[in-house]
Amino acid sequence: MKNVVILISGRGSNMQAIVDAQISGAQIAAVISNRPDAAGLAWAAARGIATAVVDHKAFSSREGFDQALADCIDSYQPDLVVLAGFMRILTPEFTRHYEGRMLNIHPSLLPAFPGLHTHERAIAEGCKVAGCTVHFVTAELDHGPIVAQGVVNVADDEDADSLAAKVLKIEHQLYPQAVADFVAGRLQIRGNRVVMV
Ligand code: GRF
Repeated sequence: MKNVVILISGRGSNMQAIVDAQISGAQIAAVISNRPDAAGLAWAAARGIATAVVDHKAFSSREGFDQALADCIDSYQPDLVVLAGFMRILTPEFTRHYEGRMLNIHPSLLPAFPGLHTHERAIAEGCKVAGCTVHFVTAELDHGPIVAQGVVNVADDEDADSLAAKVLKIEHQLYPQAVADFVAGRLQIRGNRVVMV
C-alpha cells in the first residue's frame, strides 16, 4: 500500500474525487489543511480519514509554517503528497523535500496562465481551448514536469464561472487517474517530461 497525504485549503472537491476513486494500492493516510474551516476536512473526517490542521496564521514566517507542515505530513509517512486546491506558496526547501513525490493540479493548460484568475485570463486572451494540468511540484509556482492535461472548448459566450465548472469536471477525472498512475509506478520523470512506463 502506498500512503497518500492530501493537502487542501477549501471545499476539497478534487480530494473527494481521489478518495471516491478508491485507487487500488493507495491508502489515504491523511487530509491536511492550512485553514481550520476548510469544508473538505469534515467530509474526510466523516469517512474515517485522519485529518489535521496546520494553520499558517499561527506562524510568523513561511519557513516556520512549511517546517511544521512537513513535520505533520511526514508523521503519516507519505509515498505521495497531493496538493488539491492547497492555496499556499511553498518554500524551495519544502518542494525539494518532496521532489518527485508531490503532485499539484492547476486549472489551466500550463505553462499558460500560472497563478490566480486563470479562467478570466484565458477568456480575455480569446483562447479557444482551456483545461487543467497535473504536474510534479518544483520550486517554481505552477511549474514542474507535466503528468497529464485535460482540455475543454471555450464557448463564445463563456464566462469565468462556466469555464471553471467545465474545467473542474475534467479535473475530477484527471487527478484520480494521475494519482493511480503514480501509485502503480507508471510515471517516470525524464528531465522535464513525464513518460508512462
Ligand atoms: C481547483 O480548480 C484546482 O485546480 C485549483 O483549486 C481548485 C480547488 O478546488 N488548484 P477543490 O478544493 O478541489 O474543490
